[in-house]
Amino acid sequence: MKLNTICVQGGYTPGNGEPRQIPIVQSTTFKYSTSEDMGKLFDLEASGYFYTRLQNPTNDYVAAKIAELEGGTAAMLTSSGQAANFFALFNICSCGDHIVSSSSIYGGTFNLIDVTMRKMGIEATFVAPDCTEEELAAAFRPNTKAVFGETIANPALTVLDIEKFAKAAHDHGVPLIVDNTFATPVNCRPIEWGADIVTHSTTKYMDGHGACVGGAIVDSGKFDWMAHADKFPGLCTPDESYHGVTYAEKFGQAGAFITKCTVQLMRDLGCIQAPQHAFILNLGLESLHVRMARHCENAQAVAEFLQSHPNVTWVTYPGLPGDKYHEQAKKYLPGGSCGVVSFGVKGGRKAAETFMKHLKLAAIETHVADARTCCLHPASSTHRQMNDEQLVAAGVSPDLVRLSCGLEDKEDLIADLRQALDQV
Ligand SMILES: Cc1ncc(COP(=O)(O)O)c(C=O)c1O
Repeated sequence: MKLNTICVQGGYTPGNGEPRQIPIVQSTTFKYSTSEDMGKLFDLEASGYFYTRLQNPTNDYVAAKIAELEGGTAAMLTSSGQAANFFALFNICSCGDHIVSSSSIYGGTFNLIDVTMRKMGIEATFVAPDCTEEELAAAFRPNTKAVFGETIANPALTVLDIEKFAKAAHDHGVPLIVDNTFATPVNCRPIEWGADIVTHSTTKYMDGHGACVGGAIVDSGKFDWMAHADKFPGLCTPDESYHGVTYAEKFGQAGAFITKCTVQLMRDLGCIQAPQHAFILNLGLESLHVRMARHCENAQAVAEFLQSHPNVTWVTYPGLPGDKYHEQAKKYLPGGSCGVVSFGVKGGRKAAETFMKHLKLAAIETHVADARTCCLHPASSTHRQMNDEQLVAAGVSPDLVRLSCGLEDKEDLIADLRQALDQV
């Protein structure tokens, strides 16, 4: 099926007389006739549900849709995007291991890798997304277990050269994990460019209505864990907590990664998405293809308007000819990139504050990728404790405004931006 059809109908096919919409299985637990029946689930001899901390049918319908959208073999939902990235990395990295990551990633993920995972004994080397192949190769160590990047980085709007990162990862016998939150599978399917695992903050465009925090992990099924068994003992040697099951043998390339992540990490860490949230996420997915086109159309018009306004000093949007990542966007994101635009207000921090104060339609929020346009001036909100020099060092200029274009009429958005810029 085409992507548009998968958005609407993927993941769930009701049988005769069954509900048309996916059922919300609002149950923590599942009933069995005999202990032997349930025992088979605990031995991973049979598939089925026993406790919603690990798996729930509603979540699995939605995960199956996301797997289809990304062209993967298996997927799972998590309680947040943070949990998705942590689980994807921690499923193959443990104390003493090392990760290579693009330095241009969401701040929360940077903290996760650079602070929290470091405390767990997992080291990381950050590389500039535009580094040469030689520089990228130099970042690897014998204990490197994964490479990480974002298709379109939040908030820098860097477009990842997925093929370059995938090649480096595969040359070193490890998978490439790509966070595809901003692009969504409507605009880019990283697996087609060589990514092995794809993650999402479904909180963003997939939900699209600012209703539910959530995440997803998709496995391409393409990475041959057994060919690199020495690097991935968690997948390639027996798990004694499941009576000696070896995931890569029992579930094969297509299923090993998500099965281990579900039955081991979800069992022990329990960051499951609530079935109610999975249901709401699915409502968002049903219109993802329609919404992404409008988000991109609005962002393109807004970016072009901003470029022409005398009170705007610079605009970053991959859809703009002349943008640093325009050529890369044409390759990886030919149908559009995302709805987020960054720009600088002439006059720096004070001028940007004045601009923000006069916005009427665009709401001030830390959120992005919502149906409603929202806007953030980091220097006066999330990063307000930093002086101008510290901001520049953190890669956030004092004049930077991040605008997430929603689904309103683009003429209304431009009129709102124009009247606020005219006050500066
Ligand atoms: C690209 C990206 N990945 C992951 C996350 C974390 O997702 P969540 O807020 O759902 O935990 C975010 C949040 O903004 C994000 O932008």
